[in-house]
Amino acid sequence: MLQVKDLHVAYGQSEALHGISFEGRENETVAIMGRNGMGKTTLFKSLMGVLPVKSGTITVGGQDVSKEESFRRVAKGIAYVPQGRMIFPTLSVEENIQTGMEHAPSRRVPDEIYALFPVLWDMRRRKGGNLSGGQQQQLAIARALVTDPKVLLLDEPTEGIQPSIIKDIAKALNEIRKLRRITIVVSEQVLSFAMDVADRLFVIEGGRLVHETTRAGTDTQRIKSYLSV
Ligand SMILES: Nc1ncnc2c1ncn2[C@@H]1O[C@H](COP(=O)(O)OP(=O)(O)O)[C@@H](O)[C@H]1O
Ligand SMILES: [Mg+2]
Repeated sequence: MLQVKDLHVAYGQSEALHGISFEGRENETVAIMGRNGMGKTTLFKSLMGVLPVKSGTITVGGQDVSKEESFRRVAKGIAYVPQGRMIFPTLSVEENIQTGMEHAPSRRVPDEIYALFPVLWDMRRRKGGNLSGGQQQQLAIARALVTDPKVLLLDEPTEGIQPSIIKDIAKALNEIRKLRRITIVVSEQVLSFAMDVADRLFVIEGGRLVHETTRAGTDTQRIKSYLSV
């Protein structure tokens, strides 16, 4: 579903990604594990078209999107939950979700969304800024889902979130994949969360993928050693 081939991305003269290649299949969750500064956010921003690629290709469902603007990538099936969530603090929960529905035939938030995240139904009239970090994360995922993506990207969704809510988010991601059979790509530093959701895990270091494993074959000590400073 998502194919990334030999992706190079630079900030001015300074190259940050040095040839990233991987794929995410239909009905598969892939985790990109790595410490701070290793290139996770750069990778996600380039997949979404927020940063231009220097070379390499990104295809979604067989269509090359590498040179498309972000809004066209959304139309072609990529959705993005950025690091830090970036919800609209002064809009209500319902209005936040509706910002993802500009092209939908109706402005009514699908029941499926509130079924996945019951807390958002309870809070639907509250301002986004008044939600806890975990609730805002669920809101950001809901907003991404209403664009009906084939590929859902989540950049460090557990950052700054309490453990009980991390479990809820893992459960929701597994439920979403089961319902929609989409490809989910998640960047993470928390190995237990990645092990709860991912079929395959990659490690990114210095802008390169340096390790790949299936969940069943995971050498947790090895991945922990990549994640510790
Ligand atoms: N706006 C920027 N300008 C220049 N360098 C950047 C910028 N953002 C990130 N970098 C550099 O790119 C590398 C990868 O950063 P980033 O993708 O944010 O890592 P991560 O998300 O894994 O913490 C780091 O060396 C970082 O300093
Ligand atoms: Mg980051």
